[in-house]
Amino acid sequence: MSSAGVTAGGPLSLVSRRGTIRRRRAAPPMAAIGAGGVATSPILTHLRERCATPLPVLRRVADAMAAEMRAGLVSDGAGDLPMILSYVDSLPSGDEKGAFYALDLGGTNFRVLKVQLGGRDGRVVETELQYAQIPQELMFGTTEELFDFIASELARFVSKEGGRSLHLPQGKKWELGFTFSFPVKQTSVDSGILIKWTKGFSVSGTAGRDVVACLNEAMERQGLDMRVSALVNDTVATLAGAHYYDEDVMVAVILGTGTNACYIERADAIPKLQGLKPRSGKMIINTEWGAFSGGLPLTEFDKDVDSASVNPGEQIFEKTISGMYLGEIVRRILLKMAKDNALFGDSVPQKLSTPFILGTPCLCAMQQDDTDDLTAVGAILSDTTGAQSSLKEREVVVEVCDTIVRRAGRLAGAGIVGILQKMEEDSHGLVLGRRTVVAMDGGLYEHYPQYRRYIQDAVTELLGQKTSENIVIDHNKDGSGIGAALLAAANSKYVG
Ligand code: BGC
Repeated sequence: MSSAGVTAGGPLSLVSRRGTIRRRRAAPPMAAIGAGGVATSPILTHLRERCATPLPVLRRVADAMAAEMRAGLVSDGAGDLPMILSYVDSLPSGDEKGAFYALDLGGTNFRVLKVQLGGRDGRVVETELQYAQIPQELMFGTTEELFDFIASELARFVSKEGGRSLHLPQGKKWELGFTFSFPVKQTSVDSGILIKWTKGFSVSGTAGRDVVACLNEAMERQGLDMRVSALVNDTVATLAGAHYYDEDVMVAVILGTGTNACYIERADAIPKLQGLKPRSGKMIINTEWGAFSGGLPLTEFDKDVDSASVNPGEQIFEKTISGMYLGEIVRRILLKMAKDNALFGDSVPQKLSTPFILGTPCLCAMQQDDTDDLTAVGAILSDTTGAQSSLKEREVVVEVCDTIVRRAGRLAGAGIVGILQKMEEDSHGLVLGRRTVVAMDGGLYEHYPQYRRYIQDAVTELLGQKTSENIVIDHNKDGSGIGAALLAAANSKYVG
């Protein structure tokens, strides 16, 4: 492990131009580093202190995560975490056969898939895929508008297939796995009520309604002959998709626009699971860990991001570690530095006041800049905010990005350890004492190398070198689409 893990929260670590962590030569702590000799370091020093995630902080977060999980399994509302029953109690066996559709609404990205399953030998024989973007205005429109758009994209996909969809035996409908990446209180594997929107969505009239009924009505309006046989969260679909190829997958985590995690729980460890226990003795639990808030090292900037959001007071973990918010936190810090410490000179770049102007992909691109004069950082700052910057200012910007991203990655790592810890406490050695795979997906995880490394650093620090070697944190790209189709197959009305 790099020394970054040990010093990651400390003031002396810095992301090098090559994207690796290197130790910075000790500089006078209050050195003037802003333009025209203006000292910006007090804000930076304060920021580093407030965002530090040394081992005790990581441990506190992991312990709190495990405790909240336990509380949420007892009864709804007993803790921060919803701990949603997925009603997925058997994972795809590998024997599934036939063609299944999947709709994957992850946020603004939206995918339609058709997956041809060939059973144990054939596995996934063929996948057809169509991407779409949810138009911005639909994020704030009505339920019918959103679901009509989704169903119309599905209809467009089906019509492109031409005659190939015509071979459906009479009386049967095509079956669909619906990945809906928002908190839903499931009432069965194929129905569930939206608890609330997240990730900036604010569609009217959906909360409290069964999203499968919303989709079915919209599909009928499009004349589509389909039924939803599995409604799943993206984490659950990712776990199913990854488990299909590797039975050691026990946990799935999404780190993208939003964030969440799910895991395989023992049915007898779920007091709120009433009635018949699943035959498998297990069920996937969707933690909705974005709602977690215990023991996080937060700053005034996080509080401002939260109060300006469409869901103030909610999804605090998500607002600290996920892709939708990291750029915005950094923008607010830079704005304060520009106003109070003349970072970027005498005037504040106008566009720096525009919320969400600096996206997390910009942070990532700036942290990959390995030129001596940070050319890409300068260009990104100029293009997005209009700021003209000196090399020293650009160095400050990169350090701000690293401080926020390091905190986020390390807290995500602590969250993962919290889940493993909860599972381990109940199973004694069956999780940490053997190979256990955590399937990861989401654009933030996929595209941000520093973020990935900070997660791994935190996991290694918390579990120790030897135990952490059992824990495989593995990227499972786009597994949720196939996972949803597999779950549609595993829960098919026509087989078994
Ligand atoms: C949602 C989760 C989802 C996660 C990742 C969060 O905002 O509440 O249901 O799994 O984003 O997409």
